Amino acid sequence: MKIKLHWKLTFIFCCAVVLGLFISYFYLSSRLTESFENDLKTSLKYRLSLGKNFLESQLGPQNTLSDPMTLANTIGQQQNLRTTIIAMDGTVLADSYLKPYELNHIENHLHRPEIQQALLNGLGSSKRYSKTIRRYLLYMAVIFGKDHPAGFLRYAVPISYIDVLEEAQQKTIIGSLILIFILSLGFTYIISLVVTRPLVAMASIAKSMAKGDFSQKPYIYSNDEVGDMARALSYMSNQIQDKIDEIRKETLKLNAVISSMFEGLMVVDEKRRVILMNLSLRKLFLVDFDPEQKASIEVIRNPQIQDIVDRIIKNRQLLVSEEVDISYPQSKILRINAVPIIRDNTLMGAVLVFHDITQVRKLERTRQDFMANVSHELRTPVTSIKGYSETLLEGGLEDKDRAKEFINIIHQNSSRLESLINDLLDLAAIESNKMTISLTPLDIKPILKRCVGIFEKSIKDKGLSLSIHLSDNIPKILADEKRITQVLLNLLDNAVKYTSTGGIIIEISLKNDLVQIDITDTGIGIPPNDTSKIFERFYRVEKSRSRDLGGTGLGLSIVKHIVESHHGDVWVISKVGQGSTFSVTIPQA
Ligand SMILES: Nc1ncnc2c1ncn2[C@@H]1O[C@H](COP(=O)(O)OP(=O)(O)O)[C@@H](O)[C@H]1O
Ligand SMILES: [Mg+2]
Repeated sequence: MKIKLHWKLTFIFCCAVVLGLFISYFYLSSRLTESFENDLKTSLKYRLSLGKNFLESQLGPQNTLSDPMTLANTIGQQQNLRTTIIAMDGTVLADSYLKPYELNHIENHLHRPEIQQALLNGLGSSKRYSKTIRRYLLYMAVIFGKDHPAGFLRYAVPISYIDVLEEAQQKTIIGSLILIFILSLGFTYIISLVVTRPLVAMASIAKSMAKGDFSQKPYIYSNDEVGDMARALSYMSNQIQDKIDEIRKETLKLNAVISSMFEGLMVVDEKRRVILMNLSLRKLFLVDFDPEQKASIEVIRNPQIQDIVDRIIKNRQLLVSEEVDISYPQSKILRINAVPIIRDNTLMGAVLVFHDITQVRKLERTRQDFMANVSHELRTPVTSIKGYSETLLEGGLEDKDRAKEFINIIHQNSSRLESLINDLLDLAAIESNKMTISLTPLDIKPILKRCVGIFEKSIKDKGLSLSIHLSDNIPKILADEKRITQVLLNLLDNAVKYTSTGGIIIEISLKNDLVQIDITDTGIGIPPNDTSKIFERFYRVEKSRSRDLGGTGLGLSIVKHIVESHHGDVWVISKVGQGSTFSVTIPQA
């Protein structure tokens, strides 16, 4: 149970007050008893002297009293006190409380303390219990006698008489003490409230500070310890607030850096639990739950990555840099660099940075493939040119017919070399962004007609049909004439090349602000697995057939590059043995 400070203070104050009151009560009551006794004694003394005078006036010539019993009763009645007359030898002569016959049973009083004192000083007193009347009594005795002592006159007052008097006083004392107690209770309560109020205020401010609210400040300006404490609290609050702001800013900065990082980042503790995982890495491994505090193997289920973590945490390696091929959720190649976190010579965890190097590796591979392909493609015609020209030089010229045939082959191969080199130069220009394209509004119809004209002879020679369907509403396109011609020539060349029966249909239409050119043939078609690959460099469905037909495998990749640089698109729909439709879209002007 929580007891408030001001109640505690009130309680302590009250205890002190009660203690003080008790002490005062006992002191006062003892002082009062004493003063009452003294008053009583003084009055008894006075009354004894009156009694003594009276008795002395009654003394006979032998210094004796003739009727002590009557005298004792007279004095007793006058003074309203028990009166005893005792002879000098201690024999009780008379007692106002006793009958004369009872006196015979009374023992000698000589050794009573008040009598002994009176013998010594003339006056004696004593307080004790009287068996005769069964109560506490105050006895006081004097010696009387004219020339020599004749006897003792003794008065006895019941103490209850004193008690009664004291009780009245005591009631007053207790009453005032209770009043003092109630007043001091109220007073101490108010004082405690006043004293503890600033402390209570500071406690509540400290509590809100602990909860992170620094808006409240203690407004206590007193120039004492409480004021000092309030100022210290205020200073502390400002300091903490500043520090928190600083930390918050730093955290924000750090969070911004971490979350905008392209690289994946993971921090694990020494128990291999995830402390931090940035957005890039979560996306990479499709982590859609909160990974914090989870075992890293639960978050990234890859034994190779776990092994990297183990090498840092268990084997205490200082750096691990490794390429890891992952197949889930996507097939990727990652370079992972991992270092330990060491503070005060203790290992606290590890930091892992994931770089996605899939594209880099892919590019390297394509470049290698490209180089191999180019060398191969160039070597074939060069070898053949070299072979045939050597044959001619070594006497082949003598046979005119064969010489003509050889020179024809040399011519064919050099044309092939030329087209290959042209295509390669085009591709190189496109890829290094050196190809200049100037987009102008063009009418596609005359361009198409010119291109078709080039193929008219070969179409006729192959016995193919040709039909062109043009919509009426074809707008101008935004394109580079030279490049668009190149696209059409390449597509028409393929359509003619890969078709032996049937014909070619060309359609131009407007589809959603785009001008779409469809070139359909009834040729050999393309297997479904190859339709996406034919736009890659050097990719040919049937290498030998393409080469025999003078193809380089670069035509469609040039088409794709040109169309994309016009913000258009190219695709193919094909069925093996039935034919293909190549579609190109170009934005209208
Ligand atoms: N109209 C088509 N019909 C069938 N196959 C085609 C057609 N057009 C292209 N192809 C296939 O796509 C490959 C790539 O075409 P392309 O890049 O123009 O190279 P090339 O024509 O020099 O062989 C061709 O080798 C061929 O296998
Ligand atoms: Mg081609």
